[in-house]
Amino acid sequence: MLDLIVRNASLPTGRIGQDIAVKDGLIAEVGPGIEAGAAETIDAAGHLVTPPFVDSHFHMDATLSLGLPRLNESGTLLEGIALWGELKPHLTVEALKERALALCRWSIAKGTLAIRSHVDICDDRLLAVEALLEVREAVKDHIDLQLVAFPQDGYLRSPTARENLKRALDKGVDIVGGIPHFERTMAEGAESVRLLCEVAAERGLMVDMHCDETDDPLSRHIESLSYQTQRLGLQGRVTGSHLTSMHSMDNYYVSKLLPLMAEAGVHAVANPLINITIQGRHDSYPKRRGMTRVKELLAQGINVSFGHDCVMDPWYPLGSHDMMEVAHMGLHVAQMTGVEEQKTCFAAVTANGAKTLALEGYGLSPGCKADMVILQAGDVLEALRLRPARLTVIRRGRIIAETPPVESRLKVLGNEAIDFMKK
Ligand code: FE2
Repeated sequence: MLDLIVRNASLPTGRIGQDIAVKDGLIAEVGPGIEAGAAETIDAAGHLVTPPFVDSHFHMDATLSLGLPRLNESGTLLEGIALWGELKPHLTVEALKERALALCRWSIAKGTLAIRSHVDICDDRLLAVEALLEVREAVKDHIDLQLVAFPQDGYLRSPTARENLKRALDKGVDIVGGIPHFERTMAEGAESVRLLCEVAAERGLMVDMHCDETDDPLSRHIESLSYQTQRLGLQGRVTGSHLTSMHSMDNYYVSKLLPLMAEAGVHAVANPLINITIQGRHDSYPKRRGMTRVKELLAQGINVSFGHDCVMDPWYPLGSHDMMEVAHMGLHVAQMTGVEEQKTCFAAVTANGAKTLALEGYGLSPGCKADMVILQAGDVLEALRLRPARLTVIRRGRIIAETPPVESRLKVLGNEAIDFMKK
């Protein structure tokens, strides 16, 4: 007897009419017309069933703080960092937890069940660390939450960051972060990359750095990060996030850089909503769009995932933590409108994100964890077009969120019901 069977699913691979059988929280079988009894049956009715969305880059300590203590008037990264600095002395563990948990509820409703969140460690009280460790524990049955120790004010520039990073990792923060472009000089940025990678190597941890989040064509920190990855044998465990300066770099230099990244097995994370909003702010016209070179990275065999980065915080006033919005924007900014390219943008918020996070048992094959989302769309392309309702969100074989199908009813032209899906 199965615990659950999802019938008549369309899969991201394009297979249709598939049943997904679940036993003991794991996927037991996938195929057409599975003949077995189950305690619960869900009719997917031909809708797309995908493994959960993965947000490979987020800031859960700052989320939903929009307007505290004031709004970012210039819209720049630097005013955002200054604003966050103004808010920090007023943070409390309770308020941080409340906002993070509110965000987690949104994430679950949107089918995002794995999140890598950076957490600022440049506050000697480490309140955000304390709060997010508690949130990680509180949501663990529903969301895989990874925490990155993030020295927002610079690992070398902030006087207590080194000590705080150690303390945060000792408390159980999972991953080593960094922000080399915020250090005082390019040389200090490179030095911070070296030191942080050494900390990760010593402790056997993964690395995920905010790297070259500028429009500076001469920023070189992803080169340093790739070099240190290789030198310390960290291949496959290191991620460069943002990488926006790559948008502005000299083409010859990039032709050397990308193979170096591929050789080091570095993952790349673009944050389309934020990159398109924050970068190019110092330009007149033409304005740079600031997102990293997604197509070119992929062509080198580098794993690229997309992150949401921010929801209603000092850097970004919008968002509802919907990874389909992220994929939609990524597809536009990277001009990935070809059929396979669109599918890759969907993978950037699902399977590629799972690879960045090194999630175990992710997917819809037998033996994988029974985590899945039924979308009100027939296939991946339709999902990208509609950013549709998450009808059912399932974790370890149990329904944890439901959204009724969206339907508009016209009062003219035949009083038809419309769901915007292809017939
Ligand atoms: Fe970020």
